[in-house]
Amino acid sequence: MEIDGAVCIVTGASSGIGTATARLLSGLGAHVVLAARRMERLEDLAVELPGSLVVSTDVTIAAQVERLVARTVDTYGTVDVLVNNAGQGLHVPLEELDPTDLRAVFELNVVAPLVGMQAVLPVMRAREHGAIVNVSSATSLRVFPGLGGYAATKAALNMVSQVGQLELADAGVAVSVVYPSVTATEFHQRLRAGHLVSGGHAIQPDPPELPATAIAFAIRTGEAHVLVADPPEPITPGDKGGWGALLARQAPSSAATHAPPDDGPE
Ligand SMILES: NC(=O)c1ccc[n+]([C@@H]2O[C@H](COP(=O)([O-])OP(=O)(O)OC[C@H]3O[C@@H](n4cnc5c(N)ncnc54)[C@H](OP(=O)(O)O)[C@@H]3O)[C@@H](O)[C@H]2O)c1
Repeated sequence: MEIDGAVCIVTGASSGIGTATARLLSGLGAHVVLAARRMERLEDLAVELPGSLVVSTDVTIAAQVERLVARTVDTYGTVDVLVNNAGQGLHVPLEELDPTDLRAVFELNVVAPLVGMQAVLPVMRAREHGAIVNVSSATSLRVFPGLGGYAATKAALNMVSQVGQLELADAGVAVSVVYPSVTATEFHQRLRAGHLVSGGHAIQPDPPELPATAIAFAIRTGEAHVLVADPPEPITPGDKGGWGALLARQAPSSAATHAPPDDGPE
């Protein structure tokens, strides 16, 4: 996907990784559509980004997501890219995990990106052209005590994305997943519940520009899984011992949906 001239929706553009992504894509010549709930922040950002559009959106409300896509198409005639970036953490041990919090974060981190994909797909299918980037987390590629709720939502997002990669390949729509590590944003001040897990403080946070670069790389290349690193690092699902160890591998054939693959589960 050529970013110059592309129409790119970025959710969660009012802060952190979303703001950095909107700035980067705009700098590369994209028309960016800025979506989030805090309008004042979006309006301030739009002043910096020529040709951008602001659409107040709560991504957990399907009608608002539909409206976001409709406003984009009304303004620019199409949608080339959707960056599903809006998200929230939930960093508590399982014994303290409130199911109400888990449902709310699941709605935001899993259901909302799915609804976003469904909203842009008719436009992308019609042109056999599109890129969808779902922002996951490196916490879904390793197992960390205290992150069960959050990591479960991102692991679910990974699977939705992987299935989407297969289902949409023939439609000309690439689905990518980007995996940031600890990043210097408002994220850890705005957790649904809990706090940065022990050990997290020892990690030098990445600047939000680093995941933004990985998101731009995913858009350009259509790479399925991209670890945030300098430079961005493609990940192979099932890569034993590597970052892809926790990602599901593609079934070798439809028969594999009924029988385990030759090398069996590991
Ligand atoms: N920071 C990290 O350490 C880290 C690490 C790995 C992955 N991630 C992932 O990276 C993504 C971006 O996070 P960030 O670090 O940039 O955090 P952030 O600074 O807290 O930004 C979160 C963004 O999500 C938006 N958002 C939250 N709820 C929303 C809703 N219902 N509707 C629309 N927008 C909503 C917020 O905008 P409004 O409040 O204005 O709506 C905000 O723009 C998230 O998916 C997060 O899980 C972050």
